[in-house]
Amino acid sequence: MSAVENHQKHPNFIVQLEEPFNGSAPLEFLVQEFITANDLFFVRNHGNIPLIDVHEYRLSVVGMLRAPLELSLDDLKSRFPRVEMDVTLQCAGNRRDELMKVSPIPHELPWGAGAISTARWAGVRLRDVLIAAGIERSSRHIAFSGLDTVSRLEREFGFGGSIPMDKAMMPETLLAYEMNGEPLSPVHGFPLRVMVPGYIGARSVKWLGQITVQNEPSMNYFQRRAYKLFPPDVTLDNVNWDEGIMMGENSLNAVICYPFPGDTLPAGEVTLLGYAMSDGRSMVEQVQVSIDDGMHWTTAEFLSEKRDLWTWRLWQAKLTLAPGAYTLTARTRDTVGNSQPRDTQEVWNFKGYGNNSWHRIKITCE
Ligand code: MTE
Repeated sequence: MSAVENHQKHPNFIVQLEEPFNGSAPLEFLVQEFITANDLFFVRNHGNIPLIDVHEYRLSVVGMLRAPLELSLDDLKSRFPRVEMDVTLQCAGNRRDELMKVSPIPHELPWGAGAISTARWAGVRLRDVLIAAGIERSSRHIAFSGLDTVSRLEREFGFGGSIPMDKAMMPETLLAYEMNGEPLSPVHGFPLRVMVPGYIGARSVKWLGQITVQNEPSMNYFQRRAYKLFPPDVTLDNVNWDEGIMMGENSLNAVICYPFPGDTLPAGEVTLLGYAMSDGRSMVEQVQVSIDDGMHWTTAEFLSEKRDLWTWRLWQAKLTLAPGAYTLTARTRDTVGNSQPRDTQEVWNFKGYGNNSWHRIKITCE
């Protein structure tokens, strides 16, 4: 069986890496539907995919609590109200391939713009569980650790990370056991994962084994080293890992998913398709496209009804193009007037995270 079949993915799924398994849908598949089908949802793994026996499974909730908990999946389902929410998950490495063209980014996957997908998640509110465990209101961070095994710096440990207590107590932050009406598949974190809407995907820890209430951010490698933002002059050779910004919220982003870079299309009316994603603080208000690098803009039309902080907005824009070569550019603006950086150079960082510069693709019309 191929890796794609093995992980219940679509035959057109693009595998970035077989081991650990990583991949995403072709962009034209991604913008077909507001909700991404499970077999097209991108996968980002740093280690193995643990096969967990749900009867043996226990989630431990420990740390600064009056009543630490040990919960089976059935306990979670029976003790706490079920909540459903549409959430777009975006990897911090989305669009890294464009940063790699500015300057090399060794040891990282060259994600295109497909490391993003949307699902309807079902689960329980993290805050309900924390309140049941008697959380100390003075505690500041909620750390998660996964039951997978990752090797870094000659050590083996589970993937982990943390979010501030304020975010953990917001009603949108879930412990999810279902994805689009089905139990999570092994590759997406069965039996339980965190879902932190508006945050980089790394904080949505899969195969969740432990929640720890503490005063400091997680000590896990993926909080203290990876998923940190450094200025453009910092490289692997001169980095001080104690510095840098631990990533949390996403950045405002817009992408052209169709046509593809390098396409040759008949001259005349060309319909661009794409997505725009908010930063989790303000909603996407407008998407615009340009054929002259921002001298003039055409406003796109939204294709999906939904407008909130946690999901993408799909859009289309119709342009009439004479024969010739074009660079198509897209950008978005949110309800408080934030826009995106114009150039990829401005956002380059040696780990290749958070690229939200104007999206540009080159096409030809004849
Ligand atoms: N959780 C565990 N335990 N191990 C991982 O490697 N990858 C993280 C996050 N949770 C990861 C994890 C990253 S970087 C992302 S972007 C999302 O899971 C991807 O979720 P998905 O594979 O369901 O799309």
